[in-house]
Formats: sequence, structure tokens, C-alpha cells
Amino acid sequence: MASELIELLNKAIAREIGVSVQYMWQHVMAMGMKSPEVKDIFEDIAIDEMKHAEKIADRLFYLGGIPTAKPTPIKVGGSLEEMVQDDLETENEAIELYKEIIAVASENKDSTTRLLFEEILTNEEEHKHTFTILLK
Ligand SMILES: [Fe+2]
Ligand SMILES: [Fe+2]
Repeated sequence: MASELIELLNKAIAREIGVSVQYMWQHVMAMGMKSPEVKDIFEDIAIDEMKHAEKIADRLFYLGGIPTAKPTPIKVGGSLEEMVQDDLETENEAIELYKEIIAVASENKDSTTRLLFEEILTNEEEHKHTFTILLK
């Protein structure tokens, strides 16, 4: 029962660490592109993602798991538009995974995990919205 949730939470941690580095490095590279608003957006969202990683790791540890330190593949590079396109894709993946985690947590009557991911899901939808607006 908890093992399925632990596996899903580790998937979530791996992607939170990965996107945190992805956005922070995009922030660094966007500085070279002289795009002040976008570089700040990358930095702010990178910090959000690192906080997500920490909160999920706390929960996973409480549930008896060992949080992974291995990130998912990190996509950095290309034009600014290509970077934002990649980010939009990673946010969509997060939204899909977190909806699954919310469903499994509900099945397991684990309200704490469910509430945590409802909160994180709200943030990811905001990130998606921000990236969508940037592409317009
Ligand atoms: Fe996140
Ligand atoms: Fe996000």
C-alpha cells in the first residue's frame, strides 16, 4: 500500500530536483540573452521547485522511504522560446503525475499526502500558466 505511494513520491522528488536545476540554469543563460523579466521568472520558479522537493522528501521520509537524490533528465539550452517550450512540457508532466498521486493518496486514505499534493498541484498550474503567457 504505502510502497506504491513511496515509489510515486520518489518520482516526484526526482522531477522536482531536475526542474529546479533546469530553471536555475535557464535563469543563468537567460541573463546572457538580456531578458530581465524572463530570467527572474526562471529563478523564482526554480526556488518553488526546490521547496517542493524538500516538502515531498519530508513526507516520503515520514512514510518510511529514502528520498532519491537523482534528478530526471535536465533540458537546458536553445533559444529562450525553446526553453520555455521545454518548461511547459515539464509542467504538464508534473500536473499529470501529481493528479495520479492525489488519486492514490485518496485511495490509501492518506489525507496529509493528498493535501500536500493538492497544494503543489496548484503551484504547478500557476507555473504552467506563467510559461503559457510567456510564449504568447
Ligand atoms: Fe514543483
Ligand atoms: Fe512547476
